[in-house]
Amino acid sequence: MDFAHLIEPALTSAVDLLVFIVQGDPSRDPQWKAVDAALRGGLTAAAKAEHFEGKPAQSLSLWTGGSLPAKRVLVLGGGSKADQKLPGFRDLGAVAAQTGNRVGAQTLAFVLPALGAKTGAALQFTVEGALLGTYKFSRYLTGEDAKRPSPLTSFGIITEAKGKKPTAAEARQVLASIERGKTIARAVARARDFINEPAGFMTPSQLAAEASEITKRHPQLSITVLGAKKCEELGMGMFLAVGKGSEQESKLIHMVYKPAKKPKKKIALIGKGVTFDSGGYSLKPSNAMEDMKVDMSGAAAVISAMDAIATLGSEYEIHAIAACCENLVSGRAYKLGDVLTSMDGTTVEINNTDAEGRLTLGDAITYARTKVEPDEMFDFATLTGACMVALGPYTAGVMSDHERLLKDWLACAEQSGEDMWRLPLNGRLREQLKSSVADMRNTGDRFGGAITAGLFLKTFVRSTPWVHVDIAGPASITSGKPHQPRGGTGFAVATIVQYAAKAL
Ligand code: BES
Ligand code: MN
Ligand code: ZN
Repeated sequence: MDFAHLIEPALTSAVDLLVFIVQGDPSRDPQWKAVDAALRGGLTAAAKAEHFEGKPAQSLSLWTGGSLPAKRVLVLGGGSKADQKLPGFRDLGAVAAQTGNRVGAQTLAFVLPALGAKTGAALQFTVEGALLGTYKFSRYLTGEDAKRPSPLTSFGIITEAKGKKPTAAEARQVLASIERGKTIARAVARARDFINEPAGFMTPSQLAAEASEITKRHPQLSITVLGAKKCEELGMGMFLAVGKGSEQESKLIHMVYKPAKKPKKKIALIGKGVTFDSGGYSLKPSNAMEDMKVDMSGAAAVISAMDAIATLGSEYEIHAIAACCENLVSGRAYKLGDVLTSMDGTTVEINNTDAEGRLTLGDAITYARTKVEPDEMFDFATLTGACMVALGPYTAGVMSDHERLLKDWLACAEQSGEDMWRLPLNGRLREQLKSSVADMRNTGDRFGGAITAGLFLKTFVRSTPWVHVDIAGPASITSGKPHQPRGGTGFAVATIVQYAAKAL
């Protein structure tokens, strides 16, 4: 799909589908009135019959029958101006593109409401939504339908404010917002691909190959992939134990983005990269294991975010680190009761081999802390079912005891429309991790499971400013919404890119 800035009034645009938004009561909307007049009251009649009131998620679509140069109009409800959140434009862009495809439109014009300083962001979200709403993971579908290309090829944007043509500066702004939207959507789609690929394909080595492919396209990126031997030399006993039961070699992926100028600070982004989580000897029941190819969603997010960061540029030096392995059972797998020695020397008794994420992340955190020495660290992990119990399937749990960093992070999440909510790192729960044979054990009780996992990680973080993001819920979804079809969502990519663009 191509995007273009259309310099023409909506009423003269000869596209297959003309899309505009009404925010609340349509009869007060000038665009509505103009189109309704051209259609001799057709919109008003259709709205009455279909109870269209311009509310969010409502839409109205009808043939113009030659009364307008556009063949069809689609009116989307956007809610009142006051509660129209900018990331909501993702769903509007998605519904526009999906409708275009459904009605066989090749060309579409989307009339962007004038939102002053917020127009650029609204446009960016619209473009993201159009691309992400038409995202399909169809690699393994062999039927005719899946092979046929989607009809919609041209997504135009009309930014006319009260009939005035945009100035050259405004037009440049529009193009920049389109590019930004495309770049972010591509990175999110890439993360979705990584997650949706079966674990039989997306092994630690394959993930490393994908990261190398991204790196090759950007001169500001570099990559190091450490194999099991190198990780052994570094003493990553927790990380390597998890992958021991697999035929696939564990890989530590380390990508670096270096800005042209002296970086303002160094950031480490750490992603959980368990390419399949069977639970190990604490074996998951089949239904819980079924979807465990998604257990590398954190790695997918940090790796693909680097693609967007390198395209858009950042003033920070940014490191993406993913300790990737498979958690399987075999004669070589790690066992309950094993005592592991982590990279920082801490010994850990294993009382549940299914609490493997924190083991891989613990060593990845020590690696980041000692080899990168970042000013700030973030980790992204499908870490606990308990986090989903606490917050539901759409919200990430965020834990940190660095108030300033947490506040900055949550502000970026809000701006990019990703649902994140703080959970307390209540130190009292630390007692659950006491062991009589080692410095600590890897699992606590059932209650507060997301928090004890956070506290386990904190041991390795020490004093570096750090934010832990548990994405077990939102990393993949079974019931989609317009810009998020079911499957891997690419959650956290948008917020990471937003954070990297800050000049804090
Ligand atoms: N990968 C899982 C967590 C998960 C669950 C991710 C559902 C996505 C959807 C993690 O490794 C795990 O198994 N966690 C255990 C921890 C427990 C053994 C303390 C869990 O949540 O049950
Ligand atoms: Mn597990
Ligand atoms: Zn896991």
